[in-house]
Amino acid sequence: MIERLDRYRIEGKLGEGAMADVYRAHDPEIGRTVAIKVLKPEFASNADIGSRFLREARAAGALSHANIATIYDVGEADGIAYIAMELVDGRPLDRWIAANGRIPHERTVHLALQLAQALGYAHSMGIVHRDVKPSNILISEDGKTVKLLDFGVARMGDADPSALERTQVGQLVGTPRYMSPEQALGLPVDARSDLFSLGAVFYEMTTGKPAFPGGELAVLAIQIAQGKVTPIGEVTTDCPPGFRAIIDRLLAKKPEQRYADGTALAQVLEREVNDAREGGAVSRGLSLRFKVPIALFLVTALALAACVSVILHRQQQALETMAAATGNSIAAFITGNAAVTIAENAGMPSAQQDWTALQAFVTTAAQDDAMRGIVVADADGTIRASSNPRLIGRRYQSHDTESAILEQPDRRVTNVSDADGGGMRFVHPVNYAGVRFGTVDLVLKRDALNAALSTSKALFAGLSAAVMAVVLLIGYLSGAFVARPLRRLRKALDEMTAGDLTTRISHQRRDEVGEAFDAFNRAASTAEVRSASTPKPADTAVLATRIAA
Ligand SMILES: Nc1ncnc2c1ncn2[C@@H]1O[C@H](COP(=O)(O)OP(=O)(O)OP(=O)(O)O)[C@@H](O)[C@H]1O
Ligand SMILES: [Mg+2]
Repeated sequence: MIERLDRYRIEGKLGEGAMADVYRAHDPEIGRTVAIKVLKPEFASNADIGSRFLREARAAGALSHANIATIYDVGEADGIAYIAMELVDGRPLDRWIAANGRIPHERTVHLALQLAQALGYAHSMGIVHRDVKPSNILISEDGKTVKLLDFGVARMGDADPSALERTQVGQLVGTPRYMSPEQALGLPVDARSDLFSLGAVFYEMTTGKPAFPGGELAVLAIQIAQGKVTPIGEVTTDCPPGFRAIIDRLLAKKPEQRYADGTALAQVLEREVNDAREGGAVSRGLSLRFKVPIALFLVTALALAACVSVILHRQQQALETMAAATGNSIAAFITGNAAVTIAENAGMPSAQQDWTALQAFVTTAAQDDAMRGIVVADADGTIRASSNPRLIGRRYQSHDTESAILEQPDRRVTNVSDADGGGMRFVHPVNYAGVRFGTVDLVLKRDALNAALSTSKALFAGLSAAVMAVVLLIGYLSGAFVARPLRRLRKALDEMTAGDLTTRISHQRRDEVGEAFDAFNRAASTAEVRSASTPKPADTAVLATRIAA
């Protein structure tokens, strides 16, 4: 191995192709590591090949793109022509596919876009690659980035079999497996030739198999110029139809049937990448007739749930305020009646105190249906009368932990929640002549309140169910309204694809759907006129004979 070439220090070999060796080298002048490609000794003596090698590298030297390996320098030292270029960290795509098999299509589409953008850029600079193939594409180890190598480098002629013979090299240069029909036929090439080769590369990335598997050069050339590739759908099932159609169009035998250049291809691939992204978010395969109602249903359900819960909450507050007002007047009435008895007893020694009148009053008051319990305690906190006689004589316990509905300086209304159906507690002080003599604590049942609330809930549930049913119906009908014309359009397109160019869609719509139908009808008419004026493809047979000859 050579150790030095011009100012470069050779560090090791990166690989070799048919005509050149590629080394890893250090450029001391700028302190960077580069890849250096040198013609193999057997070609070095051929001045014609040497000058082509350099001339084409110089043309590619103007290219600067994230997905193209940059050419830094070309030169000649001791009669050896060399190209110094960006050292790309990655593996050639052919070896990657050999090791890992086909690439998942989501990734392929992203990589395809990078390659189309690289070619689009080169084409816009007036440079045609002419040798797009997996070994000239380096893919990063994570499989996310690709770089295109060797613009116009290390090729002989246009890979035209007769041109190959003329060089008298005696061996096949490079792999013509990815050449375009124009290259196979020795015709002039332009940007669209690169697109054909790229189509063959995409085919192989997607299926893991070469588009044109022919072994011998003549067989391969005929396959490329005339043969049909095995349909992608027969080799793999998960390639999205959009990408499949793009590859089919790239592999069209006639350049004018492909895209105009890399930029045009990049545009359609961008759409494909976006489609794939959207397709990932929405579940595929569900008809619009179901997607639209489901979406409407969910949105309406959320809105209804929010409204109903606010209304029910407000209603509960209003009912509680009403119940509190009623309860407060009952409590005030009992307090007023108890006040005289408690005040009288307070002035007497305990042996002479008489609570029977108060207890009788409490027992009567407690018979009301709405009443759950009454407790009357004196100023010392001893219970003197109660609807529950067992409590009499015990200490009154306040209920500070219960949640307050109403809080006033001398009155408190709280929520009683227990297994007995809950209630509302009213605690009033017993005042007489400005002095506090005790406490009245009464609990009213919540039954009526709860019954009113559950009636409201039931009514709202019924209303929501009715609204949701209407929404589902409207959603279904609108989905069907959109899906039906779409199906009709798809059927017409299918017929056109199957070769029936006479299909037209009859309609009387004046909306966007009508415009789409009109657009289809115009496209079908144009296709019909074109196909009538295109001569039968007898010319390909003549060209194939030329190759075989
Ligand atoms: N810039 C680079 N950075 C890193 N490795 C490179 C670079 N250029 C080439 N190589 C490596 O060198 C190998 C040989 O490249 P070369 O272009 O000579 O041959 P090829 O493209 O594989 O085949 P052919 O002779 O048919 O063109 C490549 O497969 C690749 O592994
Ligand atoms: Mg190469």
